[in-house]
Amino acid sequence: MNTENFPQPIKQEPITPKQLYLTRRKFLEAAGILTASTILAACLGSDPASPSGSPTSGTDIMTRKDLATSFNNFYEFGTSKSSVAERAKDFQMQPWQVEVGGLVRYPRIFSMEELLDNFTQEERIYRMRCVEAWSMVLPWAGFPLAQLLEVVEPLPEAKFVGFQSVYRPEEMPGQVGLEFPWPYLEGLRLDEAQHPLTLLAMGLYAEPLTPQNGGPIRLVVPWKYGFKSAKALVKITLQADQPVTFWNAIAPQEYGFYANVNPAVDHPRWSQSEERRIGEIGSRATQLFNGYEEVAPLYEGMDLSVNF
Ligand code: MTE
Repeated sequence: MNTENFPQPIKQEPITPKQLYLTRRKFLEAAGILTASTILAACLGSDPASPSGSPTSGTDIMTRKDLATSFNNFYEFGTSKSSVAERAKDFQMQPWQVEVGGLVRYPRIFSMEELLDNFTQEERIYRMRCVEAWSMVLPWAGFPLAQLLEVVEPLPEAKFVGFQSVYRPEEMPGQVGLEFPWPYLEGLRLDEAQHPLTLLAMGLYAEPLTPQNGGPIRLVVPWKYGFKSAKALVKITLQADQPVTFWNAIAPQEYGFYANVNPAVDHPRWSQSEERRIGEIGSRATQLFNGYEEVAPLYEGMDLSVNF
């Protein structure tokens, strides 16, 4: 993965760190979606210490929508971040279904309509830290993966969850032009998948997920590098063994299976101690687990520089 030129800095209202992952309200009604301005108004507080709206230390500012939807990593549409939106604009997201199976009591295929009908959408504002050392703050809409897993009932032998992105070379030029082991695969340990922070997202900025951001449905695991959050999901498989994953298969020494955000473990080719927040000037310190320290018990007793 290469880091391209970053978009220009922006000025926006700050939100406090505490607001970053709170569940605010039911997000989508059965059919309708609240307007972006309603949600943004609810999420963006004003920081008296920063009357100009410029970033202060430790302050997280929601990334501007036009930046988050025009600067994307989605190798199925090529390696140029700024071209993904244009290349993905005709990607067919309807109809769509997600097959959930493997070591579960009730394997099942869910249509998008069933997912919307059966699981309450919430808004979650999460930091997103890419392994390339840039980050964003994004307002997702979705529901905890744990709720879906509860419905299918993992069997006792299930220890991991595999995720598969769509394979559609006729619509995805990267799957033809780039010699990678398609389809894009990712994986989590079952307890990571069941953690309440782990989200299946179907919306962003109070609108259905755009194709470039992984629509119509993607994974979001905010304490791990962004590549763990597989886009355009079609299959979720419970399994006994650790799943093969896309980047780990390509370069295991660079992209570990765990991929927890960790400023103390550098990428072999660059430091992970700092990051560039898209829309900000300068850099900021990277936080262990991307600041979501409530996940630390998942890794108790593990050497995170070995299991990177
Ligand atoms: N999922 C698929 N299927 N293909 C990809 O290339 N890129 C990953 C992740 N999910 C990727 C993917 C990487 S490296 C990042 S940083 C995030 O998606 C980027 O998500 P965004 O474009 O919505 O910011």
